[in-house]
Amino acid sequence: MFVNRVLSGMRPTGALHLGHYHGVLKNWVRLQHEFECFYFVADWHALTTHYDDPRTIEQHVWDMVIDWLAAGVDPAQATLFIQSRVPEHAELHLLLSMITPVSWLERVPTYKDQQEKLSDKDLATYGFLGYPLLQSADILIYRANQVPVGEDQVPHVEITREIARRFNHVFGKEPGFEEKAEAAIKQLGSRRARVYRQHRAKYLEHGDADALAAARALLNETQNLTLGDRERLFGYIEGGGKVILTEPRALLTQASKMPGLDGQKMSKSYNNTITLREDADSVGKKIRTMPTDPARVKRTDPGDPEKCPVWQLHQVYTDDATRQWAQQGCRSAGIGCLECKQPVIDAVIAEQHPMRERAQRYLDDPTLVRSIVADGCEKARKLAQETLRDVREAMGLGYS
Ligand code: TRP
Ligand code: SF4
Repeated sequence: MFVNRVLSGMRPTGALHLGHYHGVLKNWVRLQHEFECFYFVADWHALTTHYDDPRTIEQHVWDMVIDWLAAGVDPAQATLFIQSRVPEHAELHLLLSMITPVSWLERVPTYKDQQEKLSDKDLATYGFLGYPLLQSADILIYRANQVPVGEDQVPHVEITREIARRFNHVFGKEPGFEEKAEAAIKQLGSRRARVYRQHRAKYLEHGDADALAAARALLNETQNLTLGDRERLFGYIEGGGKVILTEPRALLTQASKMPGLDGQKMSKSYNNTITLREDADSVGKKIRTMPTDPARVKRTDPGDPEKCPVWQLHQVYTDDATRQWAQQGCRSAGIGCLECKQPVIDAVIAEQHPMRERAQRYLDDPTLVRSIVADGCEKARKLAQETLRDVREAMGLGYS
């Protein structure tokens, strides 16, 4: 039950840039070696804000998956899929909506923030209000326990925890739960049963989180329990009923420090990006035309790297020796700005080289990407269907 499963999604909003690479994607690539990872394209979430722009979604979806693959997300290690191809998310969203107070959704900070930020759009829709709940369904349907997200998304993981808790509380109760749980404890054998009871008491009486973790670990090591008894004993540690939906936690992604071409944070809305697979000529042109310290009007004017966005790129892309050279050259007017920019240009192009190469395979043969995603959808669907079966049953819809 308690596998370490990671799930994250991204809305298909256009070509990804180096900010996404240094912020999110490198993290995804790292996690895929450590955990069972599910990464998906949140195309329904894109529609909650861009419902008036349906023609661009398809292209964005495939471009984004190619960007992921280019960045090194490996379909042999992580499952890649598209939200709308796993319609179980929608059924869970609907079922969860039955127990979700409207006030919880109105309270989520992104609700008002985004309405204000995207004021040219009418976001007073039912779908947009439900955005965080759809995200909860995305997470809960895989019983994922780790959700890598940026700071802005933490409240969405928080509401997901509240919803899982409420769901388990309302629907995890079965007739005779206590008796069944007590009977299951006996199955543990006398030594484990005693340890389980001790941990449970420590957690229930003192809220001792280590005791909770230890009791869970004990259950994880125990082989001879039925699935039902396992769930009961996980739930019984915390006093309540069965744990049907797993409470996830946010795995905070360090905010990307990737500066854009103007020194502000790299972002599509600031129009200061270098895309992940930008061609080398264009990278050179963009960096060569970057603004520099405004005090360096002529080549002979000394400059101050602290006042120059190119210097910020040096921090990300060049080594100590190069930075030393750039600092001194700038302050003494020993080098020109074009000279100073060249090592950055070279480093960005070198970083992108393997990405462009990996992407080329998929651009040459788009059926490769289609088939990776088809496999991923199938795998995701199997898991989603299992959870949904338990959810339907718990909600009294288990009849066939
Ligand atoms: N809302 C997320 C974002 O804008 C995307 C997303 C949708 C997501 N469902 C998710 C992220 C589930 C993590 C888990 O970035
Ligand atoms: Fe910026 Fe380099 Fe020019 Fe100095 S020399 S102003 S750091 S680009």
